[in-house]
Amino acid sequence: MDPIDIITAKRDGAELTRNQIDRVIAGYADGSGISDEQMAALCMAIVWRGMTRAEVAHWTEAMLRSGERLDLTGLDRPTTDKHSTGGVGDKITLPLTPAVVACGAAVPQLSGRGLGHTGGTLDKLESIPGWQADLSPERMREQLRDVGGAVCAAGAGLAPADRRLYALRDVTGTVESVPLIAASIMSKKLAEGTGALVLDVKVGSGAFMKDVESARELACAMVGIGTDHKVSTRALLTAMDAPLGRAVGNALEVEEALEVLAGGGPEDVVRLTVELGREMLEAAGLSGAKDPADALADGTAMDAWRAMVAAQGGDPDAPLPQAKERGEVLAPASGVLASVDAHAVGIAAWRLGAGRARKEDAVSPGAGVVLHAKPGEKVRAGRPLFTLHTDDPSRFRAAAEALTGAAELEPAGAKPLPLIIDRVE
Ligand code: URA
Repeated sequence: MDPIDIITAKRDGAELTRNQIDRVIAGYADGSGISDEQMAALCMAIVWRGMTRAEVAHWTEAMLRSGERLDLTGLDRPTTDKHSTGGVGDKITLPLTPAVVACGAAVPQLSGRGLGHTGGTLDKLESIPGWQADLSPERMREQLRDVGGAVCAAGAGLAPADRRLYALRDVTGTVESVPLIAASIMSKKLAEGTGALVLDVKVGSGAFMKDVESARELACAMVGIGTDHKVSTRALLTAMDAPLGRAVGNALEVEEALEVLAGGGPEDVVRLTVELGREMLEAAGLSGAKDPADALADGTAMDAWRAMVAAQGGDPDAPLPQAKERGEVLAPASGVLASVDAHAVGIAAWRLGAGRARKEDAVSPGAGVVLHAKPGEKVRAGRPLFTLHTDDPSRFRAAAEALTGAAELEPAGAKPLPLIIDRVE
């Protein structure tokens, strides 16, 4: 079967067979059957023509088969995980994982590093002195058994076809396809071996999915794939029009997560942690277990956090890195904030050094943006609206430019999205 026949079939709107998809993915993973140019052409045809549910299922299975699958059976408690499609200030994994562990589940979290304006969970955790992201599958199993939770880097052996394909899609304008995104995310999550999965599909300016309809389509596609693979899967559609919490940047977000673990913290971060935690426990068959809100209030989530950090070489008591320089962006007028644009804040944090432009770049752990007001709160002219943190003061100007017009006063601007927009099961 010639790859050109498969490309032209999809270009002309045909449904690809399981056999065709297997050939394409296996041939791409081992570099034998289909070139980068041909794969890019096929992905572009998929962007335009879409994929049926059967095609997405076969595509996901073929990527899953391209690598190893962790075996997490035999632990003394059910496994449950959360995946977020990514957003600005999204540090939810940090308080959520230990809170759910404290309620009786095991949480295997394979996470990534950030690229562009959204931060990566591993970058945040790496701001803790000594903390190591890499765990072998055996160490991960041991940690899940002994501590209950592990947040670590996905090994190169999991869904390697996706690793290669995602890098190609990134440079060929073919990331924005709901079936390709769904198959990419789910092949990695299924390879991780979790028994239950909650997807946090973000919607808004700071997210991949800018509108509720496309987010719902992605959520339905991913829930369908998980369910077909007998993984108890559900999704929440949640707001990413404004940053989550008040801190954006690696160590700044760890600091905010610690406030939540200590029973305080911003209301939106606490609420999302608790709601996602409840969904994770219910999906794992632990709905009668302890409530995540209680685990945050009684200190058991903090105990689980400290054990998880220490198990990966981190010092939970070590001071977090701080940026060398600070600058303020002042409110130009007084009033009530209508909106704070998540994308603009993400770009500002990135320009201050919190994010990377290329995979190989280093991030500055202390860099980022702190919001002094959230939508619905009052601001006064001349008072700080944002504090900028960076090691390199020459970055202030570009970051401040990104924030120009990012905060709108009432009555201007669109109404903020509700924090939890919808649920898909
Ligand atoms: N994240 C992924 O892992 N894959 C995609 O295709 C898009 C976002």
